[in-house]
Amino acid sequence: MSDLQKLAEDVAREAGAMLLAERPSMSASVETKSSPTDVVTALDKASEELIRARILAARPDDMILGEEGGDTPGTSGVRWVVDPIDGTVNFLYGLADWAVSIAVEVDGQIVAGVVNVVPRGELFTAALGEGAWLNGSRLRCNEDVPLERALVATGFGYSHTRRAVQGEVVAAVLPRVRDIRRGGSCATDLCSVAAGRVDAYYERGINYWDYAAAGLVAAESGARIGGLHGKGPNTELTLCAAPGLFEELHDLLEPLDPERDS
Ligand code: IPD
Ligand code: CA
Ligand code: CA
Ligand code: CA
Repeated sequence: MSDLQKLAEDVAREAGAMLLAERPSMSASVETKSSPTDVVTALDKASEELIRARILAARPDDMILGEEGGDTPGTSGVRWVVDPIDGTVNFLYGLADWAVSIAVEVDGQIVAGVVNVVPRGELFTAALGEGAWLNGSRLRCNEDVPLERALVATGFGYSHTRRAVQGEVVAAVLPRVRDIRRGGSCATDLCSVAAGRVDAYYERGINYWDYAAAGLVAAESGARIGGLHGKGPNTELTLCAAPGLFEELHDLLEPLDPERDS
């Protein structure tokens, strides 16, 4: 295991342990950001501060991009992409799908990803070109699943204008697939594709830190992750499934894209 991968795993475990220990005594300090759905707790911030402190203590010249703390510049060519709690609403309510997500980029390419799904005791890891693992066991996504038999995870962004349209998209997708799941954590959803717990995932409006680590886990499990028209995963659309299903879902979602002309 590379030193970068090991540091990512150690830090994701330490932040996860802190969050589990502190959650029961969490104060009522819950703030909202872009909308009433978009919550942030004091522990989102504490988790990111811990992660930043540990990374910079070990590697002071690295860059960090985190959801709560933004961009920290650096000179080493290594950048850490951090979501200190992915699935904050689940965390707040005591639901099990939330994770600490850390990706490592070298010269702009993600080379390692760690997603610690803390309440489940599940550590998803991936290394570029080497594979993806759950608690050390190799992962393969489901293959050769036709659209009508696909279990599809999705999520909804925090903008309430966007949500109304996302509801219309779900109404169009639901009759064409086996069923839909809304787990509440993009990182966990992508790891579920890697583990074969769902067949596909799509979401509009997510951010890089949501999918950076788990996207590598999914890709290294054999899944394709991308956006519309051959683009990489992005805020417009992040879609993930085994290659054949990816194409079918892409073609279903593309004309439903509310922002295709913007
Ligand atoms: C959110 C989760 C959720 C997704 C949202 C994300 P957060 O991240 O990944 O599943 O639907 O789009 O913003 O705010 O809990 O880190
Ligand atoms: Ca958030
Ligand atoms: Ca997130
Ligand atoms: Ca978050």
